[in-house]
Amino acid sequence: MAADTRTQAIAQALSAAKAHYVAGNPLSYAQHRKAAKVLPGGNTRSVLFSAPFPITLTAGRGAGVTSLDGRDYTDFLGEYTAGLYGHSDPVLRNAVIGALDSGWVMGGHIRLEEELASLICARFASIELVRFANSGTEANLYAIAAARAISGREKIMVFEGAYHGGVFIFGGTPSALNAPFDFVKAPYNDIKGTCALLDANRGDIGAIVVEPMQGSGGCIPGDHTFLKMLREWATCNGALLIFDEVMTSRLAPGGLQAVCGVMPDLTTLGKYIGGGFSFGAFGGRADLMRRFDPLQPGAFAHAGTFNNNVFTMSAGVAGLRDVYTAAAALALNARGDALRTRLNAAAQCARFPMQFTGLGSMMNVHMCGGSVRSVRDLAPSITPLRELFYFDMLRQGMWLAHRGMINLSLPMGDAECDRLVRAVEVFIETRNPLFESAAQA
Ligand SMILES: Cc1ncc(COP(=O)(O)O)c(C=O)c1O
Repeated sequence: MAADTRTQAIAQALSAAKAHYVAGNPLSYAQHRKAAKVLPGGNTRSVLFSAPFPITLTAGRGAGVTSLDGRDYTDFLGEYTAGLYGHSDPVLRNAVIGALDSGWVMGGHIRLEEELASLICARFASIELVRFANSGTEANLYAIAAARAISGREKIMVFEGAYHGGVFIFGGTPSALNAPFDFVKAPYNDIKGTCALLDANRGDIGAIVVEPMQGSGGCIPGDHTFLKMLREWATCNGALLIFDEVMTSRLAPGGLQAVCGVMPDLTTLGKYIGGGFSFGAFGGRADLMRRFDPLQPGAFAHAGTFNNNVFTMSAGVAGLRDVYTAAAALALNARGDALRTRLNAAAQCARFPMQFTGLGSMMNVHMCGGSVRSVRDLAPSITPLRELFYFDMLRQGMWLAHRGMINLSLPMGDAECDRLVRAVEVFIETRNPLFESAAQA
């Protein structure tokens, strides 16, 4: 049958691509074997692992990275959005050198934490007060725990395909390591299905946690009507609305909340805001965040040795104040929109079953046509073909996520975008015959 022939042809192409990968990266393989003696699977961050073994990187410069095997790649992964500034921004470099000169294990309040907090509160309209953490996961943990304590309700609504950190994974099979909260999982972008679940749990839902565009789920933008419905329901029913903008805050000067016109009660942040250093933050309505004020009776305890670490604070301030200005955010995301349009045009022209979803400077490849409004729509996406795309892109010097995520960084210009478009065109030209021959079979 045509479908079987196609599946076989893709599997063969994939195994040839993997063989080429193995032959081309012997030093990374040796490093992987060495690492596996002390790290389970040679890995300390699951998302960076891919079989047969991951490539080891040795350097990053501008918008590129170099591997142990001596290959240069254009960095379209952008550290899953945390690498927005690229690898060598001189303003950030100076800020970090300044931090080195000032000493970096203070164990006291420093002025920089107020500066970074002021920049964040000025930028994101819903954030009146903010607290720092060390990761997006931690920020979500605090926001959810605070919402439960404030509302006195146990249930937390999340969405299929959502990712809010290593202990908040809601795509695919349930993660055995998820934090043991009472989660109610609803269908993303589905007003009717979500309302039914909300109404069935009225009185028990303490918070609704949502990414205004699902990032790890595949760069699936939330409908504004859907996000507005969540806002209205939360307001009417005494629940808190938490926007996880750990990834999406980069998509507009005021974050995606400014674009969709929805004011969450709490927002979580992370990634690039620390200027490339470990960072997380949760903030929002002053009356809610004041519960963390140590002068208040019964104040919530919020700890973290490195919450105000000097490197993150220094790089974060320099980045938001001097580099990722509102104008820079608009320009980067316009560049991303233009790039995505070109990539989709290349696939459409060739009638190749591939599309790039996303907004602005974040996108994800999917091996399917039709509209993608939730992870349910991604079921027909042909997984081995997506993996083949990954290996073919690596072969052409493009560094991107194994699952097909692509993020732009500030040092990227036309040359880098042209290079990606050309690499995708080559992929289509090389792999289209797989489909044609299968169709003829
Ligand atoms: C939407 C979202 N929330 C939270 C997190 C967790 O952030 P971190 O990896 O800093 O813990 C991520 C990480 O990818 C994310 O994409």
